[in-house]
Amino acid sequence: MVATLTLAPMEGVVDVYMRDMLTEIGGFDLCVSEFVRVSQHVYPASVFYQLCPELRTGGKTSAGVPVHVQIMGGEASVMAENAAFAAELGAPGIDLNFGCPAKTVNRHDAGATLLQWPERLYEIVSAVRGAVPREVPVSAKMRLGFTDKGLALDNALAAEAGGAIKLTVHARTKLEGYRPPAHWEYLRPIRERLRIPVVANGEIWTRADYEKCREVSGCADVMVGRGVIARPSLGREICAETPASGAAFEWPDILELIGIYQGKIREMQAPPREAGRLKQWIKLLGRTYPAANDLFLAIRRLETTEAIMAEVARTGRELRTAA
Ligand SMILES: Cc1cc2nc3c(=O)[nH]c(=O)nc-3n(C[C@H](O)[C@H](O)[C@H](O)COP(=O)(O)O)c2cc1C
Repeated sequence: MVATLTLAPMEGVVDVYMRDMLTEIGGFDLCVSEFVRVSQHVYPASVFYQLCPELRTGGKTSAGVPVHVQIMGGEASVMAENAAFAAELGAPGIDLNFGCPAKTVNRHDAGATLLQWPERLYEIVSAVRGAVPREVPVSAKMRLGFTDKGLALDNALAAEAGGAIKLTVHARTKLEGYRPPAHWEYLRPIRERLRIPVVANGEIWTRADYEKCREVSGCADVMVGRGVIARPSLGREICAETPASGAAFEWPDILELIGIYQGKIREMQAPPREAGRLKQWIKLLGRTYPAANDLFLAIRRLETTEAIMAEVARTGRELRTAA
């Protein structure tokens, strides 16, 4: 079985620049864009281009890794129309979000709330599948449930019956939020029952976690999110043949990476968003680079990237030391 590694969609964190950087470092077969939240209309092309600028370059990152466009909403016909439009714009695949735990999203009938009704997953996936050209794959991403895990298999079967080519499962309920642990053991019965590939997701921070997750879940395919943001070399470490051969790579310098990313997000010309993205990333880096924890405390109230980068420069050498 050929295992694939997918870079998780992360709204406000994994944008085109982060995708470019992480896929260049290596290890990933696929990316998924931040979600496009649809409710009543078909969005103009500009919305899709903003969240997935790769649509202008053949739907791939500069390292050549495809980026599937993620759509989120509760109205099947609107989801279908937007998905068809994304495909028309060149999306190499469409992913459907049934996992978002945000209260405002759930209150408006989208994301993880839909997991209470497997028939709605079926309805949305099949409407999208029917609207998108055959050659464009449609996949779904869900959690194990909304408040409990009782409908996990029903939801997974509904996504498969609707025509999803693949299903990613974040191994927690909406209620469990992002609290460790991730319940990889719940993925095994889903994997065993479905004919389509099941992609395991949640709480993979190291190569050892990756191996454990595959063993416990029985899933060959895995998606990683926060782990690779905290440790940009993780994709390469995972895809190395052995941990030892992974260690032989020359890991990217974190200070240099922050500089590259900051230079790139400049182009977004939206200072509060730009600063927000840098802060989120530096916060997560604290898991691998202890000095990033103090750095985060120093920058969390700063509003411009110039001020943040001045602090980054001050932390300098210390920031380079991984735990
Ligand atoms: C800040 C943040 C933003 C996220 N945005 C999205 C999103 O846009 N679409 C989605 O399906 N999941 C989103 N997720 C969930 C992740 O894709 C992933 O399922 C989750 O973080 C668990 O995986 P991890 O432990 O590898 O991070 C987000 C998670 C975080 C922390």
